[in-house]
Amino acid sequence: MRLVFLGLPGAGKGTQARVLSARDAIPQISTGDILREHVQEGTALGIDARTFMDRGEYVPDELVVEMVIDRLDEPDAEKGFILDGFPRTVPQAVALDRSLERSAKPLTAVVQFVISEPIAIRRILGRYTCPACKRQYHVEWSQPKNDLICDDDQTALEKRSDEDQLTVLRRLAVYRQQTAPLERFYAERGLLHAVDAEAPTTVVSDRLFAVLDGLDPGDPS
Ligand code: AP5
Repeated sequence: MRLVFLGLPGAGKGTQARVLSARDAIPQISTGDILREHVQEGTALGIDARTFMDRGEYVPDELVVEMVIDRLDEPDAEKGFILDGFPRTVPQAVALDRSLERSAKPLTAVVQFVISEPIAIRRILGRYTCPACKRQYHVEWSQPKNDLICDDDQTALEKRSDEDQLTVLRRLAVYRQQTAPLERFYAERGLLHAVDAEAPTTVVSDRLFAVLDGLDPGDPS
């Protein structure tokens, strides 16, 4: 399956992408994670991207599109992929369509995880991330066994540089302006499936699986 995950910051795209990636053995391609790796490694892309990310704004399309199209050419994406956080603008979606058309492998579905803005804010402000394995925790409802240490690899958990209240509000506004139009873009193409994501993680996963398992087998996959 070739999937796009859409949704507000904090909607649970990354959490659900990890679950589905393990279930279906297809890679999760998170543009946020890839960009943060570039920032950490101090590459030219990372240096350019950081300014935008720390302000809660999008990295320019031309930088992100090339990065994703290259990633989709890697062998592990041959049998399918989950695009987590891409596309986020209409020009990104058009570029993705063109690239997938060239390889005659169109998207199977776009899943939109639906939550309210107050829930998004609460989820992001309480989130801690393992910088090594990217597992997410939350101070209220998904705590690690030991204080701020990852259960899986014992790495110290971190807050991201775009998780303070002001930056989160900016990210939500940018989503409304630049990413919300994609809901219509994909609905018009018959690809959009909304999942109510205001429920415990396992319930959201079950809803996601029900959508994906119910796709018409005649759909491109
Ligand atoms: P990115 O890292 O993609 O951030 P985002 O889309 O804003 O999404 P988040 O990672 O914050 O949230 P999520 O939906 O993955 O939720 P999560 O599963 O973590 O992008 C960061 C930045 O990079 C952008 O602002 C931009 O600058 C740049 N960028 C990235 N892609 C770009 C692009 N295509 N173009 C241009 N720029 C780009 O969950 C959040 C929290 O909630 C966690 O604590 C989790 O444990 C908890 N949680 C999840 N599900 C549930 C649940 N069901 N119940 C309770 N808690 C839950």
